[in-house]
Amino acid sequence: MGPIPPIKEELCFSIDLKKSEKRMIQLLLPEHMQPQELRKELLELDPGLKIGIGPEKESPEKVEFVVIWNQPHGTLRPYRNLKAICVYGHGVDSALQDPELPQEVPIFRLADQTMALWMSEYLLTAVLMHRRQMVMHIREPENIPWGRTVRLEGNRVGILGLGFLGQDAAKLFLKLGFEVWGWSRSPKTLADVSCFHGNEGLDEVLSNSDFLISLLPLTSETENLLDLKSMKKMKKGAYLINVGRGKVLVEEALIQMLDESHLSGACLDVFRQEPLPQNHIFRKHPKILVTPHNSSSTPAKSVAPQILENYKNLKQDRPLKNLVDLRRGY
Ligand code: GLV
Repeated sequence: MGPIPPIKEELCFSIDLKKSEKRMIQLLLPEHMQPQELRKELLELDPGLKIGIGPEKESPEKVEFVVIWNQPHGTLRPYRNLKAICVYGHGVDSALQDPELPQEVPIFRLADQTMALWMSEYLLTAVLMHRRQMVMHIREPENIPWGRTVRLEGNRVGILGLGFLGQDAAKLFLKLGFEVWGWSRSPKTLADVSCFHGNEGLDEVLSNSDFLISLLPLTSETENLLDLKSMKKMKKGAYLINVGRGKVLVEEALIQMLDESHLSGACLDVFRQEPLPQNHIFRKHPKILVTPHNSSSTPAKSVAPQILENYKNLKQDRPLKNLVDLRRGY
């Protein structure tokens, strides 16, 4: 089947409603997440699907399956026949913060190989850029002697969060000869990775990692986990990379750790406030590399099959995959 031309939003609403008694899937995604792309990919897989984009005002009772990202609180209120909620990304904190999230409706998230690849690629880039001091080559080429390799020595990568993304990154770093240590909430065993958990385990990883990567989800347990106290435990000269959630890191504490040269630098993709305000100190700090929450994103083509699979699981009363555990918060 060839590519489906873009359809005007209002048009596809009325077509869907006339064609079918029940509209099944509603994409409640912000524009930058390109809901039209997802609609196109889902329809390529199953042209019979009924898919609306944006709030369904006329017949919200016909919506049984929604795809959401960072929804304004109360967004789901009109959909009283909801049977499943798909969070269109990896972290679910923004979805769970909605006080009007229907409690009894199962929520699942995406676990996608392309998302993991993009994330691992970003993490490797950040680590290698720092190891080979690439930013210094751009900013101060005059300070780098001709013909002499600049390469920091530390070889141990510590990964906080050993879920789908953390495990993928660990494999990539191992392939390239890094030593990988990891920390997770519950005990884990992963081939060739030194795995730690609990408070003592965290201290071990903090104090021994040359590169510390946070891929942690935001939960009541991880909020402000990287504060002054824990960053003081980090190895002197370590490099911090935060791609999990901004609220895991206490920003003033990081500035202090960098200004006191306890840490050598940081690469940050997530922030307490997003987009990061233009005048935020992180943007001008010489030891901080800022990226605009784009270490990875949700590729519609790659994730459409798993969304469809769960939609079919729902229709056929089979268990949904990648369900969110509401007690754990991820
Ligand atoms: C992005 O931050 C995601 O959680 O998918």
